[in-house]
Amino acid sequence: MRAKITVVGAGNVGASVAQYTVEKELADVVLVDVIEGVPQGKALDLFEAGPIHRYDCRLVGSNGYDETMNSDIVVVTAGFPRKPGMTRDDLLFKNAEVIREVTGQVVKRSPNSILIMVTNPLDAMVQLAWKVSGFSTQRVMGMAGILDSARFRTFIAMELQVSVENVTAFVLGGHGDTMVPLPRYSTVAGIPITELLPKERIDAIVQRTRDGGAEIVNLLKFGGAYYAPGAAVVEMIEAILKDKKKILPCAAYLDGQYGVKGLYVGVPVKLGRSGVEQVIEIKLTPEEQAAFGKSAAGVRELVEKLKL
Ligand SMILES: NC(=O)c1ccc[n+]([C@@H]2O[C@H](COP(=O)([O-])OP(=O)(O)OC[C@H]3O[C@@H](n4cnc5c(N)ncnc54)[C@H](O)[C@@H]3O)[C@@H](O)[C@H]2O)c1
Repeated sequence: MRAKITVVGAGNVGASVAQYTVEKELADVVLVDVIEGVPQGKALDLFEAGPIHRYDCRLVGSNGYDETMNSDIVVVTAGFPRKPGMTRDDLLFKNAEVIREVTGQVVKRSPNSILIMVTNPLDAMVQLAWKVSGFSTQRVMGMAGILDSARFRTFIAMELQVSVENVTAFVLGGHGDTMVPLPRYSTVAGIPITELLPKERIDAIVQRTRDGGAEIVNLLKFGGAYYAPGAAVVEMIEAILKDKKKILPCAAYLDGQYGVKGLYVGVPVKLGRSGVEQVIEIKLTPEEQAAFGKSAAGVRELVEKLKL
């Protein structure tokens, strides 16, 4: 039987997740949104692309949750995106209300599912969804690091004029302005970029990565990025459904790792059919550890504002 994915929030990111999921024939998809007609319309439109793109996955849209019953994975993109000049943290209270409601609805109907959170401010929303769901930490995670490192990889490939396929990169920390791109662990065909680029070019690329979301928001003006975020979520879906045991940076629950306890923050994890199967600890320099600690402290501040 084909797997079943629910995507809550049929906006830009949600629709991209649905599109890439069926294009890779990973699962049937249920799209849910509060706006009447939108999830139904987008699901039908994507279903009708099936004959051309040659997928048989079924897509259904709904304004309720009954169709989401027994989903293997639930992706939550519901909420409000940033407008120019806003930080992700400005969305905290508005989106917390949405996440409380949506999480309650989905876990009732899919008690064995894995939750992938996307709504910003990401790390705090994952913590909230985990609390509301009552799920194990293994089955609740957030997407951010894959997107941030894809941006980092894009900029490195642009700078060195090499294939993006040759570039690996790691970004740790919360999905915000304090995220921690790690040049030492970022390589081109296995060679650390610290050996290929001067420090000032690396610093400029790191800064562009940190500002990667804002760069798109400022260009689009009516919302945030969605193609790369959608692709990043689908990489997680694929790793889980195919039990790939893939190491990817995700927002995961830390229970002492990296010196952080009881908090969701972006770290490398092993993703497989059970969800987050392991948090991978890598050695950080004192400077990197300090930057990570600062990023985690920023996430904790938001979590405390929500009284979690
Ligand atoms: N984690 C990341 O890396 C990342 C990347 C991109 C976007 N985001 C975040 O993802 C979220 C969605 O972004 P977008 O560009 O798709 O926004 P969007 O406005 O296009 O879509 C959001 C959708 O959520 C729906 N919605 C609102 N309240 C709802 C509810 N209670 N139940 C069901 N649906 C509801 C809206 O009707 C809308 O269609 C934002 O919070 C954005 O900041 C996160």
